[in-house]
Amino acid sequence: MITKTVSDSMHKDIEAIMFTKQEISQLTNEIAARINKDFEGEEIIAVIILKGSIMFAADLIRCLTMNVKLDFMQASSYGSGTASSGVINIKKDMDSDIKGKNVLIIEDIIDSGRTLSLLKQELQSRGAKTVSIAALLSKPERRVVEVEVEYIGAEIPDKFVVGYGLDFDEKYRQLDYVGILKPEAYM
Ligand code: IMP
Ligand code: MG
Repeated sequence: MITKTVSDSMHKDIEAIMFTKQEISQLTNEIAARINKDFEGEEIIAVIILKGSIMFAADLIRCLTMNVKLDFMQASSYGSGTASSGVINIKKDMDSDIKGKNVLIIEDIIDSGRTLSLLKQELQSRGAKTVSIAALLSKPERRVVEVEVEYIGAEIPDKFVVGYGLDFDEKYRQLDYVGILKPEAYM
């Protein structure tokens, strides 16, 4: 019988668990309930921001009750470090024509706000009927650019977190919890 799915070496880099699998599920359900109420009877295009939001998006859309179409975008403002470079490029664009549609951007975490602010403006300029954002986590202390985020799971302090899709240098995404990365693991 397989009792461990993630190597001990990965868990040992975690200083503390911030949100367990159960707590993440609770936050996701709360966000979904609000979206279901706000968009009852409407169709939405869920734009999943690669790569960090895949797990959150997969869980969130399964709790949505309206018609949901999926699309994907990848934008980055980070290299392999833990501080925002302030440079954003759209690496992968979506395929959908969003003119007149309700768009829901699904993001893992909002930090400086640069990525989401640019994306929101871009999708609005493409003629979407509405553009809203669902982010599992937000670090308000780190905000550089103000952006309205309609659905936030939880606000967290200025700590670098990994797991449940969030990475450091492409690692730790497969953890099923969100944990604080030990500074030794990235310094
Ligand atoms: P922003 O443009 O500075 O808001 O950057 C947001 C992006 O930075 C997120 O989508 C993540 O990819 C990344 N990011 C910010 N904080 C963290 C963190 O604590 N852990 C992992 N990735 C993070
Ligand atoms: Mg990301």
